[in-house]
Amino acid sequence: MNGSFSRDSKFAVARSVSELRGELGRWRATGDTIALVPTMGGLHEGHLALVHAARAQFRRVVATIFINPMQFEDSADLACYPSDIERDAELLSKAGADLLFLPAVGEMYPPGFATTVGVAGLTDCLCGAARPGHFDGVSTVVSKLLCQATPDAAFFGEKDYQQLLVVRRVVRDLDIPVRIECVATVRADDGLALSSRNFNLSREERALAPSLYRILSGVAQALAPGGPAPAALEDGREALKSAGFARVDYLELRDGETLAKLERARPPARLFVAARLGATRLIDNISVA
Ligand code: PAF
Repeated sequence: MNGSFSRDSKFAVARSVSELRGELGRWRATGDTIALVPTMGGLHEGHLALVHAARAQFRRVVATIFINPMQFEDSADLACYPSDIERDAELLSKAGADLLFLPAVGEMYPPGFATTVGVAGLTDCLCGAARPGHFDGVSTVVSKLLCQATPDAAFFGEKDYQQLLVVRRVVRDLDIPVRIECVATVRADDGLALSSRNFNLSREERALAPSLYRILSGVAQALAPGGPAPAALEDGREALKSAGFARVDYLELRDGETLAKLERARPPARLFVAARLGATRLIDNISVA
């Protein structure tokens, strides 16, 4: 084990599954409860909110940083994913994580690795349709992290709402004994949902980006009375293009539990958007009350 990323001697770094299990075993032997916060690094306040929520409920918090190649269908996207391990480790330590699990690709996917966890149905739409294979990568790596750490709970952000539903489905279907906790989306003062991808926005793109949430909120308001969705959604797509989004992957009204497409808002309706500013793809979602 190596704590060299942090001046805080309580904060340790495990790089192998056996180091991780060794440390967690010592904690469990003293009766400590354990929460897992899986991340790909590029940390922001949204990730730290996961750590804080975990810290508030569990004695020990393990954060993971692993940029999972299996969930990137586009190698250019993988190449520009932000990474600054020293900064991230410092942030995690300050936020109250006890341990960072930082495996290399070869530790997670050793030679001969041949298993994929795939979820049918929930992954056919939205980011699953726009990024083929993405959720197989997410389901596989999250299943592995849950098996490696066997935490009492794992924390995920509401911003990646489809991912949250997929992870919940995996855990139910595979009888993985873990509680999946959801933490509300953290937004900048101008409404933009915090995301590691925001680091890749140019100054001009960052100035345009808040219109994603503004337009999403406007469409949600228009849909809330329960009128027909298609016209309001089409207006929203046009508004996004006029605001400078080069491509709108989707703006859709769906059931917040099954992700079935809705023609009219009714509980638990949710509005989902993915759109590109230059090379950066931003996603967001809100419930339609
Ligand atoms: O949301 C993320 O950062 C990733 O998809 C996750 C859950 C850490 C799996 O790689």
